[in-house]
Amino acid sequence: MRYWTTRYVLTLCIGLIVIGIISSFWLRYNTTQKGLNSIKSFSEEIAASSIDQEGNLSVGPYLSRMIDIRQRFLHLDRNLTLFITDREGRLIYSKPSVLPLEILKEITIPMDDKQGVQELTIRSDIKIFVVKQPIQSNGQVMGNVFIVHPVRELVRSTEEFQLLAIMLIGLGILGWLIIYLLTRKLAKPIKDVAEAANQILKGDYDIKLDKDIRELEIYELTNSFKEMTERLRQLEAMRTELLAGVTHELKTPVASISGLIQAVKDEVVTGEEAKEFLGICESETARLQKMVEDLLDFNSFITGDIKVNNESHDINLLVQEIAYQWLIGQDARSVILNTYLPDKAINIETDAMRLQQVLYNLFNNAKQAAVNGSQIDVHVSEENGQIRIDVKDNGAGIPEEERQLIFERFFRGKAKKDRVRGLGLGLSFSKMIANALGGDLFLNSSSSEGTVFTLTLKIN
Ligand SMILES: Nc1ncnc2c1ncn2[C@@H]1O[C@H](COP(=O)(O)OP(=O)(O)OP(=O)(O)O)[C@@H](O)[C@H]1O
Ligand SMILES: [Mg+2]
Repeated sequence: MRYWTTRYVLTLCIGLIVIGIISSFWLRYNTTQKGLNSIKSFSEEIAASSIDQEGNLSVGPYLSRMIDIRQRFLHLDRNLTLFITDREGRLIYSKPSVLPLEILKEITIPMDDKQGVQELTIRSDIKIFVVKQPIQSNGQVMGNVFIVHPVRELVRSTEEFQLLAIMLIGLGILGWLIIYLLTRKLAKPIKDVAEAANQILKGDYDIKLDKDIRELEIYELTNSFKEMTERLRQLEAMRTELLAGVTHELKTPVASISGLIQAVKDEVVTGEEAKEFLGICESETARLQKMVEDLLDFNSFITGDIKVNNESHDINLLVQEIAYQWLIGQDARSVILNTYLPDKAINIETDAMRLQQVLYNLFNNAKQAAVNGSQIDVHVSEENGQIRIDVKDNGAGIPEEERQLIFERFFRGKAKKDRVRGLGLGLSFSKMIANALGGDLFLNSSSSEGTVFTLTLKIN
């Protein structure tokens, strides 16, 4: 705040100084011109008063009096030099009686019938004005009036300068006050946001920011900061939860395997039963292996390189083959899978292994969603130059609030988390693969009757 206040005040001061300098030059010029005009009209008046009724040059005693009165009235310097010469240049009147000869020598105004002004510098630094006014009578020049006046004395009227100084100082104080108040008002919310950021850095998301801000930009800043904090809080909570989920998923089979092995080793179980125990161990190990593979895959997928190996396939045959393969591994009594294929064969350039990965994930999810007995319908169709595969199940559906999260890595639905083991990577993988195959995977619809996921693939 101090930084900005100093900068603004400095700018303000420089601005005011520049304005002050320009205005005082202008004022000086103006007052000089005004003073000069006064001298000119004064000289005209004297010239007019130096002619008597017959039209002759005459300098009576009344002239001195008149000069004194006018001089005071026009605020002219008391020490001005005034003299009158006749047609031949002889001096007939002067005030003061002793004339500064050094100046007289310098005067070069032509002696014609026009008013003339000359600016002189004497004694190297004193500037003076010399005004010459011809005295005319019946169109003839009878003589001249000369007034010598120091320039500085004309500018000495300080009133205007005082006013200017007061104005500039007033403006300076007012400007500083405005800057101070404004910076203080703007600095406070920014400081608050900085403090809130510090608080978040320490892991405390419970920030308090002023809601009642009238400046639009500051309001937007604090508002987006609050939104960002809320999002961060959610992400942090989700991260903790997901990590706990993954750890749990990995720990459970390890615990059960070690328990089973212990039982066999201690001969708590023997013979056929021990064999059965080892069989369970084997399947648990396989599941564990699958999860570790998923995690490794995830690692390589996250770096963005999903390799696809496109070859030409008849999509009907391919889907049928994949469905058949998957079904072999399932308990035929609890899973039914129907495929609905287009009448004509459609050739498509795609990676059969990747497509299998996606469909297996979808089939597994579909099977796991079913409550008693799973029925999966796979519809293949061609639409807008793309292949479209709909996988429909008869599960309980995905709750509204989870629908936008299911493609997040490690996300697992509340209902499924406690029922089926998994890492929550299936859908996010599948979507990445679908994108790599030039298509997409999205949730088509979901209700208590079942869920439909749609996979699209580009044909070539
Ligand atoms: N067909 C479906 N019916 C209902 N819910 C589903 C369906 N498919 C996915 N979901 C929901 O989406 C979540 C994420 O699915 P995803 O396949 O990514 O993870 P997962 O199946 O839980 O674990 P993984 O696939 O890694 O073994 C699931 O936990 C589940 O809640
Ligand atoms: Mg899954």
